[in-house]
Amino acid sequence: MDAHPEFPPPPGAARCLVVDDDPQVRAALVRVIQAQGLACESVDSADAALALLAEQGEVAVLISDIRMPGNDGVALLTEVRGRYPDTAVIMLSAVADVQIAVDCLKKGALDYIAKPMILDEVQTRVTRALEKRDLTLQNRFYQQHLESEVRRQRIRIQEFFLEGAQTLAHALEAKDAYTRGHSQRVRDYAVRTAVVLGFTGDFLDNVRLGAELHDIGKIGTRESVLNKPSRLTPAEFLHIAEHTLLGERILAPLARERPVVLHIARSHHERLDGDGFPDHLHGDAIPIEARIVAVVDAFDAMTTNRAYRDTRSPVEAYEELHRCAGLHFDPEVVKAFRAAFPDPTRLPLHG
Ligand SMILES: [Fe+2]
Repeated sequence: MDAHPEFPPPPGAARCLVVDDDPQVRAALVRVIQAQGLACESVDSADAALALLAEQGEVAVLISDIRMPGNDGVALLTEVRGRYPDTAVIMLSAVADVQIAVDCLKKGALDYIAKPMILDEVQTRVTRALEKRDLTLQNRFYQQHLESEVRRQRIRIQEFFLEGAQTLAHALEAKDAYTRGHSQRVRDYAVRTAVVLGFTGDFLDNVRLGAELHDIGKIGTRESVLNKPSRLTPAEFLHIAEHTLLGERILAPLARERPVVLHIARSHHERLDGDGFPDHLHGDAIPIEARIVAVVDAFDAMTTNRAYRDTRSPVEAYEELHRCAGLHFDPEVVKAFRAAFPDPTRLPLHG
């Protein structure tokens, strides 16, 4: 590497590397580039250039001769484009090599300077290369910044939406003494059952949310039907069944990032034997998250005072789940729920 103490670069100056096997060309280029305020070094071969870059990191501008002993400028260009894509590369070419220089542009060189060089011209080309590089970097920065800002806003909007949905779910329960606390119990049962089934991370978070909001569609169910103490007519049953579809519609803004939540809202009344609603799905066609909520929702309904039936003890409710496993409920989920709460006399939030 040649030392060039003549023009010490200002602090923070952009770095430039000149690669040429002719010492006179190197000296002239370095002088003129340093004179325009850049930190400039030079080496006499492609290999020396790669070694310097590996040791000191990328440079803003690399000016390379095309014809050099050993690896030529074209090979160096290819390497530099691959390893340091932000480096602006300018090729130096003799008149006879203009076609090669043009090929270099196709391979990613930003510009080429024809030899013999006009030194003023070199400064103009280097300045232009730097400006072009800055623009590219700035563009990328804004793009990345914009993407992360959009993501941040999307998450924030989702949070607002979720807060609203949770408030709605709680308001829905508050007006009905029989279901008070239902969504939180279903949430806690579902999460612990999902843990026993081996689920973790995002899936678990979405089960938590989906379980809490599973009945949000009941906002559209008439109270007279919701709290009817006697048997439902077929029309009333259809009306109440719609809460699954309405729930999914209400939660639709979460579709992209949290499909699990929507599956729970839509499919938590499906049965393994296909006798559920709204889609009459069979077995594994019912998303596992919905199969989990189906079990714990039924358990909580059985063990809570409801307008339309008597309360069962947790032990009786467990027996009922077992009796219906395979037909109504997923046996694996029933087993996991039992394992999550082995002592039916000590259930959280009951008492
Ligand atoms: Fe429901």
